Amino acid sequence: MIFKEFGKTGFKVSAIGMGTYYDPAWIAGSFLGIHRNKKQHIDAIKAGLESGINFIDTAEIYNTEPIVSEAIKGMNREELFIATKVFTNHLRKEKVIKSCNRSLKRLGMKYIDLYQIHFPSSMVPIWETMSAMESLVDEGKIRHIGISNFDLVKTQNAIEAMKKYEIVSTQMPYNLYNRSIEKDLKPFCDRNGIAIMAYYPLAHGRIAGNRSNLPEPIKKVAEKHKSPLTHVAIQWLLSRGENVFPIPRASNPLHVRENAKFSDLILDEEDLNLLKGT
Ligand SMILES: NC(=O)c1ccc[n+]([C@@H]2O[C@H](COP(=O)([O-])OP(=O)(O)OC[C@H]3O[C@@H](n4cnc5c(N)ncnc54)[C@H](OP(=O)(O)O)[C@@H]3O)[C@@H](O)[C@H]2O)c1
Repeated sequence: MIFKEFGKTGFKVSAIGMGTYYDPAWIAGSFLGIHRNKKQHIDAIKAGLESGINFIDTAEIYNTEPIVSEAIKGMNREELFIATKVFTNHLRKEKVIKSCNRSLKRLGMKYIDLYQIHFPSSMVPIWETMSAMESLVDEGKIRHIGISNFDLVKTQNAIEAMKKYEIVSTQMPYNLYNRSIEKDLKPFCDRNGIAIMAYYPLAHGRIAGNRSNLPEPIKKVAEKHKSPLTHVAIQWLLSRGENVFPIPRASNPLHVRENAKFSDLILDEEDLNLLKGT
């Protein structure tokens, strides 16, 4: 596994993380006490940990914090980087604090490495949320603050709202099909040392498995190297910068193990040129 410093945290995380958003049915079911495929999901996260991935992304809305807790049992907590998120309906100061306490309980942890605002709110001023986030750092309940789904202007506003700490990361959709962050947000993050967690790194499964209806360049590169499509998707993202961290979903142990071997593929100049125009 390749390890890279995550933003300005000083912490080295695996170059890929594990996403734990499954689907709306999982979320709805878990409210009713039904945890479809729970064992498989836990085994998938364990498979990632065994493959050297030490970076897991969850969120209060995903209802997967308890399974992350179960999957990491027996691991050295200090070697893991656990990211979770507060949802957009909990961004008032006292609600942020309550959400964080609930996440800590569900995760069975004393601290969260990265606490992210899942989506910006049009109702709550960002300074109020950031003031709560900073107080959580002061209390030692979270180590770092991140954002997700913030465009460039909202990112700049969030940075201006910080009094004591820096925003270390953002989380945005980013893959071979969707490069919209390259317009302005990514260059800003590159300049400011902000880590980018690329969600939908496999374009929600469109660049995975035996898909045949793919743009020619992706197919060509995978065929040339006899590589799984997911390795092309992951290595392309990693080639976009030291601050990019793809977080493919971990729900099937076989897929997680295969994806973790992404460094079997090395993209050359010709590949990168081909993939430019996909
Ligand atoms: N911040 C946000 O607002 C936000 C929004 C959405 C997602 N996210 C995060 O991003 C993570 C990833 O997003 P995602 O799951 O939607 O998209 P993704 O990782 O791009 O794609 C997941 C899909 O690819 C399939 N897949 C993965 N590896 C495969 C392989 N080796 N062979 C065949 N199929 C493979 C998966 O199937 P299997 O399940 O069968 O492996 C699944 O259907 C989420 O889990 C979540 O943590 C964040």
